[in-house]
Amino acid sequence: MDIKKLEAWYLKNHRKLSFRDTLNPYYIWVSEIMLQQTQVEAVLPYFNKFIQKYPTVEDLSKTTEDILHKDVEGLGYYRRFRNMLKAAIIITEKHHGKFPETYQEVIDLPGIGKYTAGAILSIAYNKPYSALDGNVIRVLSRYLGNDQDMRIEKNKRVLDQANQSYIEQSTPRIYTQAMMELGATVCRPKNPKCEQCPLAEHCFAYNNNSTEQYPVLSKLKDKTEIEYVTLIIHDFDGIYLRKRTEDLLFGMYEYPQYESSSIQQVLTSLEDQGIMLDIISDEESYKHVFTHMIWMMKVYHARLIKKGVNDWQFIHESEINHVPMAIAHRKIIIKL
Ligand code: ADE
Ligand code: SF4
Repeated sequence: MDIKKLEAWYLKNHRKLSFRDTLNPYYIWVSEIMLQQTQVEAVLPYFNKFIQKYPTVEDLSKTTEDILHKDVEGLGYYRRFRNMLKAAIIITEKHHGKFPETYQEVIDLPGIGKYTAGAILSIAYNKPYSALDGNVIRVLSRYLGNDQDMRIEKNKRVLDQANQSYIEQSTPRIYTQAMMELGATVCRPKNPKCEQCPLAEHCFAYNNNSTEQYPVLSKLKDKTEIEYVTLIIHDFDGIYLRKRTEDLLFGMYEYPQYESSSIQQVLTSLEDQGIMLDIISDEESYKHVFTHMIWMMKVYHARLIKKGVNDWQFIHESEINHVPMAIAHRKIIIKL
């Protein structure tokens, strides 16, 4: 690979992003966790606010899950931030607040896999460890003309080994970021800008006019649709919310909702728990698409008549915007 050309291209053309102004491994870790599954533009405001609020690992280690959930509300995939908090506590206690420098210590932290460890080690410490993400898979599968299914682990491993051998011939800090930047800005999923690409001369896909055929990714199974009756339950000067205990969106607050397509059915089963509600609005439909599922929600406002047995928490109206809530529910407008 023409690594010299790639590195020169990066130094001249990369976007100036706030997380690139630092070699602080803690900041690089935070940015890499946020950038998983999330676009750069969406991450930037969260990243900037986050490091202002938590300038050191130790500052982060002292927060709570609820506060952290609120800080990152809207980014999705909240498990990564609970793991981040666990890791911050380990770094503070076991590593005395100093971010570890060896691959083994870094990958042993909660929520840090091969990709994130490679990114931190190469970008912050300039050590040659491959960081293979979706962008790099696209660049390398095209460059090498590798037409194997990249949803399959052993096929990704072939690209990871190629990436490892390239980074060993490069300046790791620049190589890793150059591959990510190339994937994000030039070797895009649709209409790659091959004329501007530093790898074009020896790129298999470009030279065979077949860039659209890579990477090969087998189709994912269809998303499951779930129907919910979602209740905004008013009482005096507040409403009731439930803190989720399910794997999806664990720890986020939500309007109480029940898997059903019928409000009558839900009211009947709530009555069995001694709960009585008075429905005070028409039905409104909302839809939220997750990676693997779709929530189809029928939303009703209700007034609480009889409390019964429930797992709801009363939230004063002034607090509603301060609890961490999944966007699936935050986007439901509560008009009174
Ligand atoms: N995606 C993940 N890490 C990135 C980085 N360092 N720069 C740009 N996009 C990224
Ligand atoms: Fe991607 Fe085109 Fe560059 Fe090949 S030449 S790596 S397809 S942008």
